[in-house]
Amino acid sequence: MIDSIISIVEAYEPMRNAIVLAAGKGTRMHSDVPKVLHEVCGVPMVELIVNTLKQAGAERVVTVTGFGHEMVESRLEGQCEFALQEPQLGTGHAVMQAKQLEGESGITVVVNGDVPCIRQETFEKLFLSCEEADMVVLTVKLEDPKAYGRIVREKDGSVQKIVEYKDCSEEEKTIKEINTGIYAFKNELLFTHGKEIKNDNAQQEYYITDLVELFKQAGHVVQAVEIEDPFEVQGVNDNVELAKANATMRKRINESWMRKGVTMVNPDATYIGPYVTFGKDVVLHPNVYLYGKTSIKDGTTILPQSYLDNAIIGSRTIINASEITDSEVKDDCKIGPYTHFRNGCIVEDKNRVGNFVEFKNVHFGVDSRCAHLTYLGDSDVGSKVNIGCGVITVNYDGANKYHTTIKDGAFVGSNSNLIAPVTIGENAVVAAGSTATIDVPDGDMAISRVRQENKEGYGKFYLERNRKKKAESKK
Ligand code: UD1
Ligand code: CA
Repeated sequence: MIDSIISIVEAYEPMRNAIVLAAGKGTRMHSDVPKVLHEVCGVPMVELIVNTLKQAGAERVVTVTGFGHEMVESRLEGQCEFALQEPQLGTGHAVMQAKQLEGESGITVVVNGDVPCIRQETFEKLFLSCEEADMVVLTVKLEDPKAYGRIVREKDGSVQKIVEYKDCSEEEKTIKEINTGIYAFKNELLFTHGKEIKNDNAQQEYYITDLVELFKQAGHVVQAVEIEDPFEVQGVNDNVELAKANATMRKRINESWMRKGVTMVNPDATYIGPYVTFGKDVVLHPNVYLYGKTSIKDGTTILPQSYLDNAIIGSRTIINASEITDSEVKDDCKIGPYTHFRNGCIVEDKNRVGNFVEFKNVHFGVDSRCAHLTYLGDSDVGSKVNIGCGVITVNYDGANKYHTTIKDGAFVGSNSNLIAPVTIGENAVVAAGSTATIDVPDGDMAISRVRQENKEGYGKFYLERNRKKKAESKK
């Protein structure tokens, strides 16, 4: 009974779709990278918008690409649909390229790809408002409305039209309420009237903003929804505005995590991406960068100058001045300073790794040590292993990479080279300064270095001779 009521309610909810306009070059960025791929908190602007739309319930999202479309499409692959706009004749022309949505019913939100700080709640509000109207424009009042399109209202307060800055009269330029570039439409009407847009304006472009008048002439209901927070809808047209969008988003992300219990010594110098997650009692020091799907569990501290991208960090671990990408560090570890883990490393519980240590594709067992100046690549290391100072796995022969295995309890002395492929057995020892080229069986010791010879009195003789020479040359 309850199930059937729910399905009736759902049936009345109009389908939610979205079109993201992302075909423009972004001339004012002075960049070879399409504007919408410039990043805010480590994520391309357009990807942030696509994700926010999906969180707001959009079932189909079509991104309109043009300039640098291969780059945009490869970055967003699997996250949305695409439509190609070539050439780019304006926002009104762009929206009409999303032909796969023509004939759909429901409500379509259209959003410029350069408003990265837009919130899920705002998209939700737009979808809902459009249930009562045929077109909704999201607006905001700005003290300095710059070159944004102006909202012209009728005497009764309803929307009359949007005038682009370049087409504004002097009087219209004084209007403070602007078009955010974010709209909702009854989908069928969008495609019917989209075809009527003309390019008779200052820029000879097809303006999506002309739809206000076209809808009104056809007797449809156009509404403006004004929002309070101008930061949410700030457009990014150059690098100054990109930095402002980054500041807005950073503040939003950091404040939200501080309210959930994360301690930040200086939130203005803490950089967290939107997909990062935290447990309880995490402490972040300044100049910490956390990006991608990084997650940090309870009681862990990240000390200054650390960069983590797709890093899974366990509980009660300390990371100091280190770089960790696409790797996992488990509980109760002490990492750094100056440690670099990359390409799928797994560092198990209770480990001590760093200073100046690089691991690439290494599985490092429980309670092992690698405390100084070491490179391990393509290696499996057991538990309770000690890797001395300056150990190198020599994993590359100029063409291929080879694997190194170091079993439980082994001791690898300082300044050793392990020429892969090679296996160091359980409780085996590699004497300091050795170069291991063949496997070391369990419990054995490998020594491969020239035996030492002491020349009686020769040290003193040698030094005195050299010091004398130096003194004579100074005369
Ligand atoms: C647009 C609005 C303006 C509004 C402002 C808000 C129009 C005509 N004007 O102006 O009223 O105040 O946004 O930020 O819409 N794009 C395409 N294809 C094109 C042209 C643009 O996909 O042919 C995309 C761009 O990649 C960009 C978005 O549409 O993401 C907006 O284009 P932009 O040139 O920045 O428009 P504005 O001049 O800012
Ligand atoms: Ca813009």
